[in-house]
Amino acid sequence: MLSTVEEFRAHERLQREIWGSDKIDVPANLLTASARHGAVLLGAFVERRMIGILYGFPALTDGRVHHHSHMLGVLAPYRRLGIGLALKLRQREIVRAQGLDEITWTVDPLEVGNNLFNFGRLGVVCDTYIVDAYGEMVDALNRGLPSDRLEVRWMAREGDLSAPTGASPAATVITAAEWRRDGLPEPRRLATLAGVECHIAAPRDYRAVQRADPDLALRWRLHLRQVFAEAFEAGYILTGCVEQTGLGWYIVSKPGV
Ligand SMILES: CC(C)(COP(=O)(O)OP(=O)(O)OC[C@H]1O[C@@H](n2cnc3c(N)ncnc32)[C@H](O)[C@@H]1OP(=O)(O)O)[C@@H](O)C(=O)NCCC(=O)NCCS
Repeated sequence: MLSTVEEFRAHERLQREIWGSDKIDVPANLLTASARHGAVLLGAFVERRMIGILYGFPALTDGRVHHHSHMLGVLAPYRRLGIGLALKLRQREIVRAQGLDEITWTVDPLEVGNNLFNFGRLGVVCDTYIVDAYGEMVDALNRGLPSDRLEVRWMAREGDLSAPTGASPAATVITAAEWRRDGLPEPRRLATLAGVECHIAAPRDYRAVQRADPDLALRWRLHLRQVFAEAFEAGYILTGCVEQTGLGWYIVSKPGV
């Protein structure tokens, strides 16, 4: 657990480095204040240099106390080494010791890489879609793109991580992608929601889509907004994310159909 003002300042500096922006999401003063009141502030270190950060705080939603995780990031050269996973497991241990059962956070449905981590590795679930959660993004890359997010839930009391959910070949593919001549995927609606499990495609690398064709990135944003809204309205729960045929595939399921 980070506990000194110097560490909170290092956390603040790392926010800039990881997200490559001058804007600080959570300033050191707020980290300091919330650390005194149940926040979980973690750092990962290589030879005493901070290279990964996590920040979450106790939250109250509809009268229910849980933990809300606001930030997790690892410097690019240190990714895919198990550091993000180690930070999440330590967070879960601390939250459990605080007597709380559930950890929530928001994720971008267009960030398939992060969601292979969240759904595929950690085993989060989701039934809530937030339209434009943080307002329109202002950085150069994201300008004009609404900041829609999935709000995910992770059970703090589970023993092992849930086994990654695989895709069932019998599922209904409700949206796929048509590959354009320039190699970019265009969203295509194929079917209405039906049965126990449905699959929803998303670009594996939407940053590439955004750089090449911002209008196409916006079409994917609005397409996924529509499909997830329909799925959650119909009682489906988002339980998985897998990578296949150059795309990310979200798995929504409705047990007992
Ligand atoms: C998301 C993030 C924190 C993951 O941290 P990490 O240290 O790279 O993740 P780990 O090495 O612990 O990943 C554990 C497993 O999750 C999955 N995973 C993680 N990142 C993945 C990616 N980009 N693509 C596919 N799978 C991924 C893999 O199964 C991985 O195990 P493997 O490497 O043995 O295959 C990191 O990519 C990051 O800092 N991203 C930028 C900041 C950000 O977007 N934060 C939001 C987090 S929700």
